[in-house]
Amino acid sequence: MAAATTPLKALQALRGDAAGCRACPLWRGATQTVFGEGPLDARIMLVGEQPGDQEDRAGHPFVGPAGRVLDRALAAAQIDRSAVFTTNAVKHFKYRTRGKRRIHQRPGAEEIGACRQWLDKEIDLLRPEVIVALGATAAHSLLGRATAIGPNRGQLLHSPPFDCSVLVTVHPSSVLRERDSESRSAALDALAADLRRVA
Ligand code: URA
Repeated sequence: MAAATTPLKALQALRGDAAGCRACPLWRGATQTVFGEGPLDARIMLVGEQPGDQEDRAGHPFVGPAGRVLDRALAAAQIDRSAVFTTNAVKHFKYRTRGKRRIHQRPGAEEIGACRQWLDKEIDLLRPEVIVALGATAAHSLLGRATAIGPNRGQLLHSPPFDCSVLVTVHPSSVLRERDSESRSAALDALAADLRRVA
């Protein structure tokens, strides 16, 4: 990467470099690298797992069903999505095919590790006040070790690899997996309550 003169240019250069990333095999099946988005002066960074089917096609993080849950939780927590930086621990969509459908597959430790270089650089450039780990993959990447969500949920932990504060919570897609509308509503409220801690 050539030396960039402004933070915006540095972010654009990073995005360009990540577009050609071949550090793990996930690029082969993906449409594109889905890099983080948001203002450079964001005080909050949200880190998800990996782009889903819609994000892979659109090239933007959290624009599909999980993104709509995230939008609702952020609104309930009175956090303006346009003021936060949104990204993922892994920047290519991992899936298996069933007929014409692409079924999400959870990234493994090797893929998380291979992609950490980009998250590292995003954090370095933005230096957010707090980072929210949305789910186990993000928590693993940010805390440098496999981390159960249950016992750590809603807590601000220190990240040794990134030397920053990380709030651990569930992934928004877990709200969609709840069995009925009452449980989904309770799960959304709980996610919003966690996000309120950083608001
Ligand atoms: N799930 C994620 O973790 N990230 C996205 O961008 C979309 C779905």
